Amino acid sequence: MAREAYQAPRGTRDLLPEDLVLIRHLERTAFRLARSARYSEIRSPLMEETRLFSRSLGETSDVVEKEMFTVPGRGESTSSYTFRPEGTAGAARAYVQGGFPSRAPLQKWFYVGPMFRYERPQKGRERQFSQFGVEAFGSQDPRLDAEVVDLAMRFFEALGFGAELEVRVNTMGDAADRDRWREALREFFAPSLAERCPDCRARFERNVFRLLDCKVDRCQGLNLGAPTLAGLLAPESAGHHAAFLSAMRALGRQPVEDPKIVRGLDYYTRTIFEIHYPPLGARSALCGGGRYDGLVEEVGGPATPAVGFAIGFTATELALAELGLPPAGQLADLRLDLGAAVYCVAIGDGEREAALALAGELRRAGVAGVELDFRAKSPKAQFKEAGKLGARLVVVVGPEELAAGEVVVRDMQSRSEDRLPREGLVAAVRERLGS
Ligand code: HAM
Repeated sequence: MAREAYQAPRGTRDLLPEDLVLIRHLERTAFRLARSARYSEIRSPLMEETRLFSRSLGETSDVVEKEMFTVPGRGESTSSYTFRPEGTAGAARAYVQGGFPSRAPLQKWFYVGPMFRYERPQKGRERQFSQFGVEAFGSQDPRLDAEVVDLAMRFFEALGFGAELEVRVNTMGDAADRDRWREALREFFAPSLAERCPDCRARFERNVFRLLDCKVDRCQGLNLGAPTLAGLLAPESAGHHAAFLSAMRALGRQPVEDPKIVRGLDYYTRTIFEIHYPPLGARSALCGGGRYDGLVEEVGGPATPAVGFAIGFTATELALAELGLPPAGQLADLRLDLGAAVYCVAIGDGEREAALALAGELRRAGVAGVELDFRAKSPKAQFKEAGKLGARLVVVVGPEELAAGEVVVRDMQSRSEDRLPREGLVAAVRERLGS
């Protein structure tokens, strides 16, 4: 009886060599752009204490309420651990734990890696997905907010996105502004609460801001005329927002002001933004971010301003596929890495070990993409395989060459062949590959 087959967990996928061509391109684009503005890479653990997330993302956020992959603590620890649903909380924790607030408060960091959310899998939503994020700690300067938004936009532009890309911005004000706004919203929503969806009714007490981004049509209708934060902002917050918009213009950006953006995580203050690719519809958010001036203090450090973003690779991949991007030329070198540069052909069984030894010698000398046959193929089939893998050179060893201490090097493009002493192989291959 056939054994039961296994599947990757729901909402996860295998990234196989072909898939990684694009992913690696996204990664190297992220690295290049982060580097262009002097952001340095960090790698924090894939899991953190659960309370770090409930504290920083907010007890009433969807992520904390419904979407955490949590592992109970055992043995030496009674606290539970959660696979990180996002990277900002861990970065803030690392910033405090690393002692940066006192020794080097201005830190510009980035990360690329997997995040985990227990969501209902659907187009663009996975339970394990990758983000490219940046987090800049230690400055209140609204120009830094603009630098961060500009960096995110440049990531998409480098991938070939054009005019349809949209950056939507809003401000969440600071804690006191939010208190005033919360009260005003409660007053506004209370009379029509009975007509709203169950989610809205549940959120009214716990997190009234979430009513603003409810996706139900009827609720959206009831949101018309809701008080905006803009009218309630203290002069410092209003000034920050104006300076941010001005800095964006200085960078040649025209953000769309969108008071509907509230973001699903609690830590935001002042600037918030999303980058959308509208043809993707409701799930069009490619990137989200903003300022979070209270988070470092929330996780045990001194009051420290900070701002950042995270770009989702899943939505980015979908949008790229729709746009027919990136152009093949941008991926050519990564695709080449899947093939072979040099293929060592053994004419008979007696030369198979010699072919392995030749391959070993080339590899030790630093030649990349050296391959040979491991499935008892005929010489003809080995040549065919070399062609299929895109090998530029084939090194052939038959009984005569073996006896004479020689090898044959064939250039697969020009079809020219040279017989040479084995000692000269490495130099000859290097010369022909131009490496
Ligand atoms: P976020 O908006 O929760 O923000 O996530 C950022 C992006 O990650 C989203 O725009 C989306 O593209 C992608 N994403 C989120 N959930 C999923 C999922 N289940 N499947 C696929 N992609 C997903 C944050 O994570 C904040 N940490 C951003 C930030 C950094 N704010 C300040 N610094």
